[in-house]
Amino acid sequence: MAKKLFIRTYGCQMNVYDSARMADVLAPLGFEPADAPEGADMVIVNTCHIRENASEKTFHELGRLRQMKQRKAAEGGQMVLAVAGCVAQAEGAEIMARAPFVDMVFGPQAYHRLPEMVARATRSAAGPGERGVLDTDFPVESKFDHLPEEQKVEGASAFLTVQEGCDKFCTFCVVPYTRGAEFCRPADQILAEASRLVRSGAAEITLLGQNVNAYQADGPDGKTWGLGRLIRALAEIDGLARLRYTTSHPRDMDDDLIAAHGEVPALMPYLHLPVQSGSDRILEAMNRKHKAADYLRLVERLRAARPDLALSSDFIVGFPGESDADFEATLSLVRAVGYAQAFSFKYSARPGTPASLLELQLDDTVKSDRLHALQALLSEQQTAFNSSMTGRTLPVLVEKTGKFPGQLIGKSPYLQSVVIQGNPRLIGTIVPVVIEAGHANSLAGTVQIAPEMEGAA
Ligand code: 5AD
Ligand code: SF4
Repeated sequence: MAKKLFIRTYGCQMNVYDSARMADVLAPLGFEPADAPEGADMVIVNTCHIRENASEKTFHELGRLRQMKQRKAAEGGQMVLAVAGCVAQAEGAEIMARAPFVDMVFGPQAYHRLPEMVARATRSAAGPGERGVLDTDFPVESKFDHLPEEQKVEGASAFLTVQEGCDKFCTFCVVPYTRGAEFCRPADQILAEASRLVRSGAAEITLLGQNVNAYQADGPDGKTWGLGRLIRALAEIDGLARLRYTTSHPRDMDDDLIAAHGEVPALMPYLHLPVQSGSDRILEAMNRKHKAADYLRLVERLRAARPDLALSSDFIVGFPGESDADFEATLSLVRAVGYAQAFSFKYSARPGTPASLLELQLDDTVKSDRLHALQALLSEQQTAFNSSMTGRTLPVLVEKTGKFPGQLIGKSPYLQSVVIQGNPRLIGTIVPVVIEAGHANSLAGTVQIAPEMEGAA
């Protein structure tokens, strides 16, 4: 009988990709995806450690799962409970100590070893399962060489991890510690995975990496390929209409990648390029390795290559020592760039990071006030950007049905959600949509019928 697997995913798109690959790894063992944890044979909590309260949230969730595990045991069954991802990597031993009912804890570099861990943790005829399997090593071999081919694509848009880890060591960030050093997958492996994704229905692929534009790896021609070269090769795949990549560091935008934005039609005109702060003093304390003016120059060069490029960013407010003037500098950078979308956070001291040891940690009220001011400006820009689409006809990749009957949701080239009416048969296709309204978080429009099609049955 099929066993039920439930995976709860927190955090970034890389965790979403990892969760899908964990399901792939477990499929040959007879595990099938379940919609809810209750009654499942295995539950994996794939955690994120980047911002506040991550570990408390994890323990809270584990408390609830413990009760389900007990109910399953009372019925004579077994629920294997696993914690994966960055909290597991950072606090593996603490999880084992505080939540001894957890069967296994493993980091992002270990999930290709899941079958072996499951075998160790599950009781069998030979005896009870091992208590507490912990795997948070950074192995020398790449997990990508040991993963099975992905089972299926969910929908028209797929993720593909091309790079992992980070060598930048921004002083606020845990990623270099939880995900380890930068690692890039060879280009031929990526091209093969992309072709398989397209064959199984993906029209769009988003290339993922913590520092994706630092991508440097062997190409099939024996030369070293950067991300620009990789994107040009991927764009040749028949049926692959759209390419995106995330997340980028301003320091790693090289000439070829900038040029690709102007030369590769499949590369969508949207770029997530985190700046974090507009103050040089804070950028330096963050170890971002660039100044505000470097970022603005880079934006200018990108827009020269692709004039309609929509930009997005991450911001941190209330970094230790941030003054009113530093925060003002962030607001002026935002005004100078004009963002289509953005994510902003209050600084939170992450254990083990250099910034957590700095004096002059700011009050929460100061952080909240600054966050509100920044978010007001960013949402004004986002609404203005969305409203500016009214009257335009945009190609929309239809992804799924909406909440109401007849409603479909798709994505514009600028990564805006677009709500239309139409037949679900349109899912997976790109249709021209006349935009009638731009709202704060989405657009609404009507599918355009080609003139020669009007009046046709
Ligand atoms: N505090 C607040 N925000 C953070 N981020 C990363 N670390 C922290 C932290 N300690 C934000 C950054 C990053 C995004 C993914 O999360 O803006 O780009
Ligand atoms: Fe973290 Fe900085 Fe690396 Fe981004 S570039 S993952 S913020 S250390």
